[in-house]
Amino acid sequence: MKVALTYNLKKKDPLKPVDYFSEYDSEETINSVISALKNKGHSVEGIDVEYPALFSYFKKNSVDMVFNIAEGKHGRFRESEVPAVLDYLNIPYTGSNTFSLALALNKALTKKILKAEGIPTPNFQLFVKGDEELSADLVFPLIVKPNCEGSAKGINKTNVVNGKDDLFKKVKECINIYRQEALVEEFIEGKELTVGILENGKTRVLPILEIDFSNCKESGEYFYSWKMKEFQGNTELGLVPEFHCPARLDKDVEEKVKDVALRTHRAVGCLDISRTDIRLDKTNTPYVLEINPLPGLDPKESNFPIMAYAAGMAYDDLIEAILISASERKRLN
Ligand SMILES: Nc1ncnc2c1ncn2[C@@H]1O[C@H](COP(=O)(O)OP(=O)(O)OP(=O)(O)O)[C@@H](O)[C@H]1O
Ligand SMILES: [Mg+2]
Repeated sequence: MKVALTYNLKKKDPLKPVDYFSEYDSEETINSVISALKNKGHSVEGIDVEYPALFSYFKKNSVDMVFNIAEGKHGRFRESEVPAVLDYLNIPYTGSNTFSLALALNKALTKKILKAEGIPTPNFQLFVKGDEELSADLVFPLIVKPNCEGSAKGINKTNVVNGKDDLFKKVKECINIYRQEALVEEFIEGKELTVGILENGKTRVLPILEIDFSNCKESGEYFYSWKMKEFQGNTELGLVPEFHCPARLDKDVEEKVKDVALRTHRAVGCLDISRTDIRLDKTNTPYVLEINPLPGLDPKESNFPIMAYAAGMAYDDLIEAILISASERKRLN
C-alpha cells in the first residue's frame, strides 16, 4: 500500500509554555511507525502537518491510506483538523472520524454520553466563568482539569483540592491559562488502569494495564500528572511508576473493566484503536475518566504498545493491524 503518515512533531521552543508540545509526537515515535509500515512492505512518506502543506501534498500525491497520528493545532476540535481535510479530499485514513475525535476531546460532553449509557464516570461539574455555585452533590476531594486537553496538560498534584477556596483558585487558574472551561470531578482514589481496544478483524480488548505510583512517593507525585507523564522513567526525579500488564485484578473485576472500556469505545464511535483511562474506587467499580482515540504509539514509553506486547503482538504487527482495520472499512464502504 502507498501510505502517508500525518503527524505533529514535538519541537523545542523556549518561547512557548512548557507543556505546549506535550501532545505531539517525538521523532522516535514517527520513525518507529514509518519503519513498522516499511517492514510490512508498504511505501511510506511522513508529513509534518503544517498548513497549507497538507492540502498541497495531497493535491500532488495520491495515496491508498493515510496513517493519522496528528493531534492538530488549533482549539478544541484540533484532533479533527487533519481528518476533516482528508474527508474533504475523499482520502481514507486510519482511526476515528472527525466527529468522534472532537467528541472525545471534550471530556464533559463525553461524560454526559457515558452517563446516559449507564457507564460509570466520576460525578462532575463544568465551570465556564469560574464564579458558578459549587454543586452540593460533589464530594471532596475534587480534581480540576482543563476540559479539552490531553497528555495531562494542566493537571498537577495541586489540582486535587479538599476545600472550596483551593477549588475556586484552581478553577480560575485553569480557565485563565488554558482559555477554556474547567472540569471539576470527584477524585477516585483507587487503582489506575488503562484499556486498549484494537479492531483487527474482530474487536479486541487488550490485556489491561495497571499503573502503580506507590514507588514514586519520594517525588511527591501520586497519579498520572503532567509531570509524571512528561518525565516518566526519570529515576533522579523518582518518576518511575510500576507497570503491570495484565493488571492485578480478580477475574470478575477484569471483566467489568473490559466491558466498560468496550462500551465507552462504542458509545463514542471510535474506530480501529482507542485507549480508555479508568480508576477503580474502593468497591472496585470502574470509573471512566476519558477515552483517547489517538493514544501515544511510542514503542518504549507509551501505554498502548505495552498492552499490545502483553497480548503477544510485536510493534510492527500493532501498526499493521491499525492499517488493515482501516483498509477493511474502506473496502466495505
Ligand atoms: N477523577 C479522577 N480521579 C482520580 N484521578 C484522576 C481523575 N481525573 C484525572 N485523574 C488523574 O489524572 C490523570 C490525567 O487525567 P485525564 O486522563 O483526564 O487527562 P488527559 O490529559 O486527557 O490524559 P491523557 O494523557 O491520557 O490524554 C489520570 O490518568 C489520573 O491519574
Ligand atoms: Mg488520560
